[in-house]
Amino acid sequence: MKKRVAILISGGGSNMLALLRDMGGGDHPAEAVLVASNDPSTSGLAKAAAAGVLTAAVDHRPFGRDRAAFEAALLTHILAAKPDILCLAGFMRVLTPDFVNRFTGRMLNIHPSLLPLYPGLHTHQRALDAGDTQAGCTVHEVTPILDDGPILGQALVPILPEDTPDSLAARVLTQEHRLYPAVLRRFAAGDRKPIFL
Ligand code: GAR
Repeated sequence: MKKRVAILISGGGSNMLALLRDMGGGDHPAEAVLVASNDPSTSGLAKAAAAGVLTAAVDHRPFGRDRAAFEAALLTHILAAKPDILCLAGFMRVLTPDFVNRFTGRMLNIHPSLLPLYPGLHTHQRALDAGDTQAGCTVHEVTPILDDGPILGQALVPILPEDTPDSLAARVLTQEHRLYPAVLRRFAAGDRKPIFL
């Protein structure tokens, strides 16, 4: 039986598409059952629908600061899809511990830095400001602490002298598209050994 995967996005969804592409191959241990977003207008939802995956949108804005109410609405869609694994792929809302704890050991996130360096936002600017010579991305299990949790894979990207946050982000994103599918494929097969690219 294939593992059922729900993917949460906020943006263009290029990581989501990389995951869908890989799961589309016949020999994959998982299948996508839902792509959901907190932004009804994001282009990622249309791309997922075009790929034949069920989509859902729950706009977080009407909920204001009531994260629990937003999450309850989102959860209705997620639970209906009966996922075994939840993948955050550019999902830019902080999730409450109550939500996270429902999916302990079953929720993955991709973050554009070499964690534990630079949790949170502006990772590429911070790596450049620090004078780092390499950057990268991390896939990790999600715990209630932001951008924390066991590391399942990392990909390294050299920082070039002429790099700007945008140029670095673009090269890291290319590696994200290699790393996340590789980690999900292994994770869905029950193997949590980290992958280093
Ligand atoms: C990716 O770079 C991802 O690592 C980052 O947002 C981008 C989403 O791009 N995620 C975070 O910063 C989460 N803290 P995508 O929508 O094209 O996949």
